[in-house]
Amino acid sequence: MLDRPTPNDLRAFWMPFTANRQFKSAPRMLVAANGMHYTTSDGRQVLDGTAGLWCCNAGHARPLITEAIQKQVTELDYAPAFQMGHPKAFELANRLVDLAPDGMDHAFFTNSGSESVETALKIAIAYHRALGNGTRTRLIGRERGYHGVNFGGISVGGIVNNRRHFGAMLAGVDHLPHTHLPENQWSRGQPEHGMHLADDLERMVALHGADTIAAVIVEPVAGSTGVLIPPKGYLQRLRELTRKHGILLIFDEVITGFGRLGSAFAAQHFDVTPDMITCAKGLTNGVIPMGAVLTTADIHDAFMQGPENLIELFHGYTYSGSPIASAAGLATLETYKQDDLFARAHDIAPYWEDAVHSLKGHRHVIDTRNMGLIGAVELEPIAGKPTERAFNAFLRAYEKGILIRTTGDIIAMSPPLIIEKSHIDQLIGTLAEVLDTLE
Ligand SMILES: Cc1ncc(COP(=O)(O)O)c(C=O)c1O
Repeated sequence: MLDRPTPNDLRAFWMPFTANRQFKSAPRMLVAANGMHYTTSDGRQVLDGTAGLWCCNAGHARPLITEAIQKQVTELDYAPAFQMGHPKAFELANRLVDLAPDGMDHAFFTNSGSESVETALKIAIAYHRALGNGTRTRLIGRERGYHGVNFGGISVGGIVNNRRHFGAMLAGVDHLPHTHLPENQWSRGQPEHGMHLADDLERMVALHGADTIAAVIVEPVAGSTGVLIPPKGYLQRLRELTRKHGILLIFDEVITGFGRLGSAFAAQHFDVTPDMITCAKGLTNGVIPMGAVLTTADIHDAFMQGPENLIELFHGYTYSGSPIASAAGLATLETYKQDDLFARAHDIAPYWEDAVHSLKGHRHVIDTRNMGLIGAVELEPIAGKPTERAFNAFLRAYEKGILIRTTGDIIAMSPPLIIEKSHIDQLIGTLAEVLDTLE
């Protein structure tokens, strides 16, 4: 038991994905945010190079969103999500499918990216069953994929530390190879080599039988494992093969959704339409937890059979489409539209690309890569101490007034879409200084 914790005692809070003891010995506290900046507890301004956790795409403290939440909480704070409705959830679903690629006609609301993934995987299996194809239960993910932290997500995911501590996970899961090839070093945008890696799906079909496979789930651009950009033609090939074998294709767009690549969704950017899209984060600009699964009419309609008085999908969350999250979502989509933020991201992306690649030649840098407003800088690991060099870069960068993120020895950046050229200069200029002083 804790001995009488005081209100500012750090011990009780078990922090997520954090080295708790290290953090609590030297905490980094943020107390305010506005536009492109955070304010730290010691009164410093820190430039947000990561849009929070890839979620505050419109920048911080956006008035439309703040006001919508304030108004909603006084008007209708909560409404039951099951067998009851409220107007804003329906309105948001309509706005979302308008924004999504043609063919995505329905939205199922969740509270996070992890829940969106679980929901999509369950829908995939239940969809095949509804069509009388109950043997299609296998799920295929990809090495180095990140699909959140719940059991379905870590099963299809491909990050060893997220999996190995947690037992056997879901049965009947297989993984495509990841798409990160050494010959693609220093690629600007989509790399040239690796389209053939999608053909591994044929091997899995040969091994398991197409009639046992429900779905393939991939991130169009993998973020959490260090920014892996899909090789040219890869996603198209995956679409062809999944279609050929009657397998559903799910794009996990939790980080690529809402303008990160300069279009509403990556599916539009790559001109590849999956059967389902999972999203979260930028849906509410990170302000209120919310996620969604977008599906085709085909998938939705397969459930709308049988007696009309019976529940069609035994799945949902207390906060699915909650009034406050829906209000935040609507105001967020309106903010993106009013400021034309997706086009803005598209327009500034070439400047961002040049800036990210200007880090080639700086100390320890062994690769740089980019796509839309995403950039990665890979560092040579310290022998015997993987992750330490990049983490030191993160700490020094924070001291020098920029927020970056690291995964392994890769620095990942994903700034708010409101970023100006001067911010890019500051972010990349400061990072260059940090790199050159690292051991
Ligand atoms: C591609 C992808 N899927 C799922 C998730 C999980 O989202 P959440 O942390 O909201 O559960 C993330 C989070 O970064 C993600 O990047």
